[in-house]
Amino acid sequence: MHIHVFSSEAELAEAAAGRIVDRVRQDAGAVVGLATGSSPVAVYAAWGRQARAAGLDQSGVRGFALDEYLGLEPEDPRSYHAVIRRDAVAGAGLDADLVRIPDGSGAPGAAEAYEQAIRDAGGIDVQVLGIGRNGHLGFNEPGAAADSRTRVVELAEATIEDNARFFERADDVPTEAITQGLGTIFEARELLVIAVGAAKAAAVAAAIEGEETELVPASRLRNHANVHWFIDEAAASGL
Ligand code: GLP
Repeated sequence: MHIHVFSSEAELAEAAAGRIVDRVRQDAGAVVGLATGSSPVAVYAAWGRQARAAGLDQSGVRGFALDEYLGLEPEDPRSYHAVIRRDAVAGAGLDADLVRIPDGSGAPGAAEAYEQAIRDAGGIDVQVLGIGRNGHLGFNEPGAAADSRTRVVELAEATIEDNARFFERADDVPTEAITQGLGTIFEARELLVIAVGAAKAAAVAAAIEGEETELVPASRLRNHANVHWFIDEAAASGL
């Protein structure tokens, strides 16, 4: 694992974005995995700025989001469809038609169709990841199997509490989601894990230095051949 620590989120974002932009420069049809959450927002914005400054043609870049709540309409501003369009597609300057997001309607076959779409695209070149306070990746909560695939999952209580800030009341947070599995995520050829702030310090330390256990899904990252952690000093403070 490569661990890059930065004194500011702005520097972190520029460096992480630089890796994505380099990839797109090499392959105009690059496939990028997109995470939601606050952690990657600055990275997407820096990616967009760097691409514009370099005059990079991003019209062929394809994207796959990690996850979506079950039961929110794609037009709902709290849905990950909306978040990905706002933060990733608009931030990085991507073609929205080439960015796919898991279907949170609960339709049968949605998970299998998503896996197939990733395979049809040739797999994910570079996957952006955040990390939950409980060490989750996407919505793979503690206990998720390392070889899990895209599926519907129940959210952990800690995740519902953390994500309640985006809803009026904690009771409004969906209790289920559809997420790429850990097995799906780990097939990406490169992983960029973004963690910012002291609230992530314990999860980062557990993932990087703690016991490898299914109770901390991010502790499985160390088995991947090409992982880059981009963390600020606060998130690195438990290392
Ligand atoms: C959500 C998402 C995760 C994300 C996590 C952390 O639960 N499903 O993919 O990594 O939140 O979010 P944040 O970056 O806002 O801390």
